[in-house]
Amino acid sequence: MKFNARAHSNFALVKYWGKRPGASPDLNLPAVGSVSLTVAALATETTVEFADGLIRDEVELLDETGTPVDNLAAIERVVAHLDRVRAMASETRNARVRSQNDFPMGAGLASSASAFAALTLAAARSAGLNLDRSAASRLARRGSGSAARSLFGGFVEMQCGVQPDGSDASAMRLADPKHWDLNVVIAITDASAKAVGSTQGMIDSEQSAFFGAWVEKHDDDVKAMKQAIQTKDFDRLADITEHSCLKMHATMFTNKPGLIYWNPATLEAIHAVRALRAKGTPVCFTVDAGPQVKAICPAEHADSVANALGALPGVERVIKSTIGYDALVAAA
Ligand code: PMV
Repeated sequence: MKFNARAHSNFALVKYWGKRPGASPDLNLPAVGSVSLTVAALATETTVEFADGLIRDEVELLDETGTPVDNLAAIERVVAHLDRVRAMASETRNARVRSQNDFPMGAGLASSASAFAALTLAAARSAGLNLDRSAASRLARRGSGSAARSLFGGFVEMQCGVQPDGSDASAMRLADPKHWDLNVVIAITDASAKAVGSTQGMIDSEQSAFFGAWVEKHDDDVKAMKQAIQTKDFDRLADITEHSCLKMHATMFTNKPGLIYWNPATLEAIHAVRALRAKGTPVCFTVDAGPQVKAICPAEHADSVANALGALPGVERVIKSTIGYDALVAAA
């Protein structure tokens, strides 16, 4: 049967960066846990059908304008994920996959998070697997670490787990989207695909002199963030979010060679967010594996934050988003 799934992207407030030492690359186990916000405005919709008579997997990836994306590496990642589903379901047939993002891919907007969450749900159902959310999250993790979090809406925690087989390395909901009316304002400073992907960046960061410190102190940030979310303490959330982001980038800066995803407008937007906060607007920034700046603020401040960031010369456009809901799957 043919299934269609829709999943939202997510941005980490406490970041995931680095793989568990010595673990199989196919299990894709994170070195650290993370806490994220699901982003309603960025989504991937994917249809999967395992069918007779296909001599290979037919994968069609479409960008936000509906134009096919010619990206062999991305297609190979999809096929590798279909292989995982086939192995779990004893499915021998090839699949037809059609996946469309409603936002730029590979530009630090967590397109792999929404894409692998949607692919996991649609492919698992089409292969006859009935996975609960936690099992789907673990399977999505093997496609992309951040995808494990995109199964859930709201505020989400990813646990790094300790089991060698990854059976406890999955995401769970901390609070639903209605718990706290925060918005995300995304300042796009360069929508083109990045040269170094997060997988390679993370592997290289393991050689950074700062990587040990990053892992060692990480749990403190996760714990403090969970409390900040529970008590809706925005100042605390803001401090931890910026700290985690800058610490993650510090490990990348000290890769050999140093990995710098930022451009001048990234830094402009970071300073603009700090200037707004200094003048009393509750807002903070985070930046992922790309040059876009994501500002987080209570919903009532989103318009003024969007206006301020949109007025910066290097900002191409801003996207305003509420907090997103769970990923969904249905027969197509
Ligand atoms: O899931 P990946 O391999 O694309 O890694 C995501 C890494 C960051 O976006 C930089 C941080 C995070 O926790 O999402």
